[in-house]
Amino acid sequence: MKKQKIIIDTDPGIDDAMAIHMAFADPRIEVVGLTTIFGNVNVEQATRNALFLSEQAAYPLDVAKGASKPLVQTPNEPSYYVHGDEGFGDLPAQNPKGTAHALDAADYIIETCRAHSGEISLCPVGPLTNIAIALQRDPDLVNHVKSVAIMGGAGFVPGNVTDYAEANIWNDPHAADIVFGAPWEVVMIGLDVTTQVMCYPQDYQSIADESGSIGSFINDISQFYARFYASVYEEVLCVLHDPCAIIALTDPDLFEYRYVPVRVICEGPAIGQTVPDAQLARTNAKIAIGVDVEKVKAHYLSLSKMGDACHAKRQGQGADK
Ligand code: BDR
Ligand code: CA
Repeated sequence: MKKQKIIIDTDPGIDDAMAIHMAFADPRIEVVGLTTIFGNVNVEQATRNALFLSEQAAYPLDVAKGASKPLVQTPNEPSYYVHGDEGFGDLPAQNPKGTAHALDAADYIIETCRAHSGEISLCPVGPLTNIAIALQRDPDLVNHVKSVAIMGGAGFVPGNVTDYAEANIWNDPHAADIVFGAPWEVVMIGLDVTTQVMCYPQDYQSIADESGSIGSFINDISQFYARFYASVYEEVLCVLHDPCAIIALTDPDLFEYRYVPVRVICEGPAIGQTVPDAQLARTNAKIAIGVDVEKVKAHYLSLSKMGDACHAKRQGQGADK
């Protein structure tokens, strides 16, 4: 079976870590690299955390450090209140052994996608700054990428940081508008669907029960995130934002879509809003508007429970993915 090569652009981040470990455990995916971005934490922390996740899973890949601030606007504070001071809930700063790639994230994306032209899918699950910079440096990148699925935006539902804006887009609306304006189809996995897919403490306990090391880490970090969501939903739960974007790449049929161009509001009270606009002369985005909640959740849980088994297998195979 030919694996789907992906680069995850990420600000780990609790649900980022959940998505990354899930992708590591999926036999259909080869995670070629993690590119890092500010957002949930600053980019130094995001890079440290990305290196840590790859070492924790003994999953060999590149980690390329990305932008430390948005293209135009003044940076928002990292969302430590959602993800903890170091991005992994109550856990302290991690100390990975490895170091970041020599190329920055945007150049890494360009070089890797050109080297494997037509084979790599991009999966940004943080602010879109690195992707926008890559497009600015190399507009022809669109012809070398296989597909793009982002976690971000809110097509037909309210935002989560303001009434209008979802966090990843709000953290760099100018970058997001460049990404939606490029001549490629952006699969938008936004709040329309991600807020429907929830996991509960017993789900994370079951992950820890079956995968004692990596699963326990996921269970541990889920608790801070669940406490934040308890303040929103009045129930202790985790919203599976970032894992949904990875699942949309491997299992697109688990979502229902509307095809329409999107623009991003870059100023004023609605800054960060993703506006579906049929009149726009832009390539249609593929906005997920429906999701098979039970199947997506079952898929997430079954892969997450395989973390330790995959780790053991990789070590036995001499670090093959
Ligand atoms: C998005 O913002 C971040 O807090 C999460 O990691 C996710 O990517 C949800 O709005
Ligand atoms: Ca994220």
